[in-house]
Amino acid sequence: MKLLIKKLSKLQKIDSLDLIKNEIESLKSKALKSIGNSTDIFITKEKLLSDFDQILSTKTTARTKYYISRLEKSLTKIKTNKINEINLNRWKEYDDIITDSLWIIGKRDKTGAHNGAYWGNFVPQIPNQLLRRFTKKNDWILDTFLGSGTTLIECKRLGRNGIGVELLSNVVKLAKENIDREDNPYKVKTEIIKGDSTKIDFKNELNKAGVKNVQFIIMHPPYWDIIKFSKNKNDLSNSKTMEGFLKSFGKIIDNTYSLLQNGRYLAIVIGDKYSSGEWIPLGFYTMQEVMKRGYKLKSTIVKNFDETKGKMKQKELWRYRALAGGFYIFKHEYIFIFQK
Ligand SMILES: C[S@@+](CC[C@H](N)C(=O)[O-])C[C@H]1O[C@@H](n2cnc3c(N)ncnc32)[C@H](O)[C@@H]1O
Repeated sequence: MKLLIKKLSKLQKIDSLDLIKNEIESLKSKALKSIGNSTDIFITKEKLLSDFDQILSTKTTARTKYYISRLEKSLTKIKTNKINEINLNRWKEYDDIITDSLWIIGKRDKTGAHNGAYWGNFVPQIPNQLLRRFTKKNDWILDTFLGSGTTLIECKRLGRNGIGVELLSNVVKLAKENIDREDNPYKVKTEIIKGDSTKIDFKNELNKAGVKNVQFIIMHPPYWDIIKFSKNKNDLSNSKTMEGFLKSFGKIIDNTYSLLQNGRYLAIVIGDKYSSGEWIPLGFYTMQEVMKRGYKLKSTIVKNFDETKGKMKQKELWRYRALAGGFYIFKHEYIFIFQK
């Protein structure tokens, strides 16, 4: 690798385009002959070859040198922004990080401790994508609706510390079991708190963990009463009216606002609902509650979802109802991204 970098640096001092291209051809054929798929740990063979091809396809010396210097930079310098670990000098290599606002996610990740058993959990790919975009290793992440622990399992995998709050004792127990099952290669901390996120003294809880601020907040609240999680009156899924739901949700935004470090991000995962022949845009109402409190909306993501277990059996009935009733069957939910 050192030799390659030296060569790339030398090529930028040569004036003859033919000579530069001959040298690149020879580097390319050496890379082609190298064993396996990687030239070494820093760059894949595939990526290196595609960079050589790009250099060879140029028409002017200036352009050729520009691509050579870019390749050299990508091999020698790391450029990241303040909120994640994506090396912007090698941005082309992050194929699996989604940057479009339409997320079509295939099968649920069921590796490690992940399992789809908790009704109302989200697919692990959601926190995985968000944590890689909006956090760095050793950051602290807060999930105010922990459920079965999906976010904290991802935190362990990715080397982020996590705090999760869940109202129901049986769900806290399930989350703990799930999270404990996951390896902890980065030795991060995961704190699970049983409590009501509208009221809990978050400052105090963070103090106990020895932290003042969190660097990312994720909220996956009940979609009002679509799934009843319990009979507990503090459970947001038991809100009697939509106004009541939004009020409680707003309290959680208020209760967590000061904890989030300035400039960092909050993500809300939520869907709409259908009631008495009317589409209720719960997602957008929820989004407004957050914006009212001073957060800046950065993105609205639409994510597909498959039939829930309940609806799968009734698929045909729903299709009939949709055709007869002039509406569309829910196949999406939202992920709203805000910045403080
Ligand atoms: C949509 S689920 C979250 C699922 C989670 N993302 C997962 O992957 O398992 C919402 C959770 O919020 C919990 N919950 C409802 N009201 C709450 C409150 N006031 N404070 C904390 N948790 C609450 C419910 O018990 C439920 O487990």
